[in-house]
Amino acid sequence: MNIAIISGSARPERQSHQVALEVQQRITILGIENWLWDIKETNLPLLDYTFDVHPNPGDTLKQLKVKLDQTDAFVIVSPEHNGSYPGALKNTMDYFYKEYVHKVFAMVTVSNGVLGGINALKNLQHYALKINGIVSPEFVITPQVQNLFKDGVLTDEKYGHRIDVLLKHFLELAEAVKLIQNK
Ligand SMILES: Cc1cc2nc3c(=O)[nH]c(=O)nc-3n(C[C@H](O)[C@H](O)[C@H](O)COP(=O)(O)O)c2cc1C
Repeated sequence: MNIAIISGSARPERQSHQVALEVQQRITILGIENWLWDIKETNLPLLDYTFDVHPNPGDTLKQLKVKLDQTDAFVIVSPEHNGSYPGALKNTMDYFYKEYVHKVFAMVTVSNGVLGGINALKNLQHYALKINGIVSPEFVITPQVQNLFKDGVLTDEKYGHRIDVLLKHFLELAEAVKLIQNK
């Protein structure tokens, strides 16, 4: 099982990235292979050609293609920006399509308000369905992210537990889907 954690904010002062790192750490502790797809680091230009028809895909896209083909399931960690997930996240993910098909997606959304990114969550679930993903019914919303970490360390273990519960159900679903597909 190989999991991609997508970190969905490209802002220099992004707070959701801490959540993405926390999710990655907890997946690693479970002994599960994983990698972080940080959209800020990938820094893809505004989409012109999707990977499949790109006349000149650079190294970044080619490396992503290899990694995505090896990925079984995704956790998207996304902030809420103006009632949805960031355009930069969609722009990045839209370079690919068939690499997502019939793979499980779980969402963790993040905001500095009290609603925890619920609007981004709903829109992301819709997006994952559109790209032929299988949406995990389990999710985590993250209100008031500014109070969750101190010097990069999670201070709310109840929140950590919610992430662990999400991961348990998500990984069970991802395993089951992989099993069926390998039959
Ligand atoms: C352009 C922009 C729009 C935002 N819109 C919302 C919003 O609609 N709802 C919300 O709860 N928070 C909103 N926020 C605040 C984010 O929830 C906050 O920045 C939080 O730290 C998560 O985003 P980040 O990972 O980019 O920091 C917005 C922030 C930005 C930069």
